[in-house]
Amino acid sequence: MEEQKFEALLQEKTAEIEKILTRYLPREEGYAKTAAQAMNYSLMAGGKRLRPLLMQETYGLFGGKEDSLIEPFMAAIEMIHTYSLVHDDLPAMDNDKYRRGRKTTWAVYGEGMGILAGDGLLNYAFETALKSIGDDWETEQKEAPDTDRLLAVLRALKVIGKKAGIYGMIGGQTADIEAEEIKEPLSREHLMFIHENKTAALIQASMMTGAILAGASRKQVQAVEQCAWNIGIAFQIQDDILDVTGDSRELGKMAGSDAQNNKQTYVTVWGLERAGADVEKLSGEAADILEKLPGDHEFLEQLIRYLIHRRK
Ligand code: IPE
Ligand code: IPE
Ligand code: MG
Ligand code: MG
Ligand code: MG
Repeated sequence: MEEQKFEALLQEKTAEIEKILTRYLPREEGYAKTAAQAMNYSLMAGGKRLRPLLMQETYGLFGGKEDSLIEPFMAAIEMIHTYSLVHDDLPAMDNDKYRRGRKTTWAVYGEGMGILAGDGLLNYAFETALKSIGDDWETEQKEAPDTDRLLAVLRALKVIGKKAGIYGMIGGQTADIEAEEIKEPLSREHLMFIHENKTAALIQASMMTGAILAGASRKQVQAVEQCAWNIGIAFQIQDDILDVTGDSRELGKMAGSDAQNNKQTYVTVWGLERAGADVEKLSGEAADILEKLPGDHEFLEQLIRYLIHRRK
């Protein structure tokens, strides 16, 4: 696919995801209005929407065709990712004031609301994902959803719960914060633990969910998990590179945040050149895994290549 055509398609797909997200926003009303506003403020601030996109593409790869099954999960994973950013920006964490081209949630709504908006997004993500079972037994009596669908939803939720939690993103963020106090260079294993968990885990959850909901086999889901590991590590290394070489305006967040927080990153440990080379290598390996999977993976492959050179 020509680059121009790819970029137009990417824009189209991202706009479609914005519309899907809009359909699942919490209502801004009543005494809890402020937290709902803060949730929507952070969620609708833009962002690349990479995780729902990867989920949708992987779902398509394995023949998934049901919008009512995948869309609630696409919204849910973006809510979880957004919550991770809202909390990541808090003064007690990375203390950042800009995100997605505007003030961070806590900078607008205060720290208390920043914490609650993050918690709210995490919880609401699971409420949203469960809309995929198509069951509304509290309000109307309908036929029960079929068991294959229920099983797929439960399996996907199990993966998301784990990859977002202490054995995933939260675990990685824990090690990331504690590493600020470590003076000697982190070991490769330590740095990879951070990258693998704080970032790759949610990318794995996105792609694995797409595969699981489309009915992929265990072996295929494992291949997807490995592919997403490569994409995720490459993505965080590129994020570390852009923190040094990027432009705050283009990034929509402040460059130089890592240095200010004494973060050890792939760039501080291995240098810019090696970091760039590893982004390419990991992305190439991801594309190789993809190659062996069924379906039309032209767009996904191009997306992986596109991410290598991203500037935001
Ligand atoms: C930023 O994620 C945090 C990392 C895991 C590096 P993104 O770069 O995907 O942020 P948005 O969603 O586009 O704002
Ligand atoms: C983000 O890592 C990982 C998350 C789970 C949010 P960073 O702290 O490097 O992300 P940015 O650079 O603030 O987006
Ligand atoms: Mg951080
Ligand atoms: Mg940060
Ligand atoms: Mg960063």
